[in-house]
Amino acid sequence: MKDSTKKIIYTVLIGLPVMLIVWSFSLYFFGCQTNNTCTGYNDAIRTPIPPFPPASLPVAKVGANAADSTPKCKITAVQLIGSWVDAGYPETDPFKFTDSKGTACVGTFAADIQKLFLTPNLWYDGAASCNTCHNSQLLPAYKSMDISTYAGILAGSNRADANAKGNDILGGGVWEKSLLKGMIFAPDGKTEINRPAMPLGRPATVPAEGPLLSAGSPEEQ
Ligand code: HEC
Repeated sequence: MKDSTKKIIYTVLIGLPVMLIVWSFSLYFFGCQTNNTCTGYNDAIRTPIPPFPPASLPVAKVGANAADSTPKCKITAVQLIGSWVDAGYPETDPFKFTDSKGTACVGTFAADIQKLFLTPNLWYDGAASCNTCHNSQLLPAYKSMDISTYAGILAGSNRADANAKGNDILGGGVWEKSLLKGMIFAPDGKTEINRPAMPLGRPATVPAEGPLLSAGSPEEQ
């Protein structure tokens, strides 16, 4: 065998293992530096995961609730009806009122007033709705009064028949003078006109001005 051929064979036989040793040592050296503490990973170079920001947006409303996102005003039932009467008790036009926080608000008969007469359990738990007793069947209805519709409220009480006008209960547009206020403003359950507070059977625990309600919406600036 030629010397040069032997040289190549020895070089390969010795060179390969040497390169392997050098290569694995360099892996160890660059991976673990010189302090010989190979922990397998390095905390500092990991991409930090930022903490999740706390949820701050209100829960999104869907479906029928989505349209109902305008903030409501807060006002007592008696003050709300009073504002509507003092505004000339409009049937469809909006009326203004100031809510319990002093916010200028607007409401309408259809959306805010009528339900106070039609909704059971509104004035207190267990309360019959006003129209249970005051409805379009004037003869059995108490005081021959129909409080369930706009026309009925305007026609008043003690009506002879469906076409007849009765006694005005809206004080001619002056809330303070109205019979309606007289019957529903009741400190400690007692009206100031010495008649039974409405809704009939109303307990003394109901606030003088009735329940605090969400009604109307803040007026546009
Ligand atoms: C359970 C039946 C009943 C319910 C419910 C009821 N009322 Fe009456 N209402 C009566 C009776 C009975 C009278 C007569 C009271 C009296 O003896 O003075 C009356 C009288 C009235 C009067 C006076 C009419 C007049 O000319 O003398 C008004 C106004 C009135 N109610 C409004 C209301 C309103 C508003 C509500 C709901 C908040 C209501 N009522 C709920 C039975 C009821």
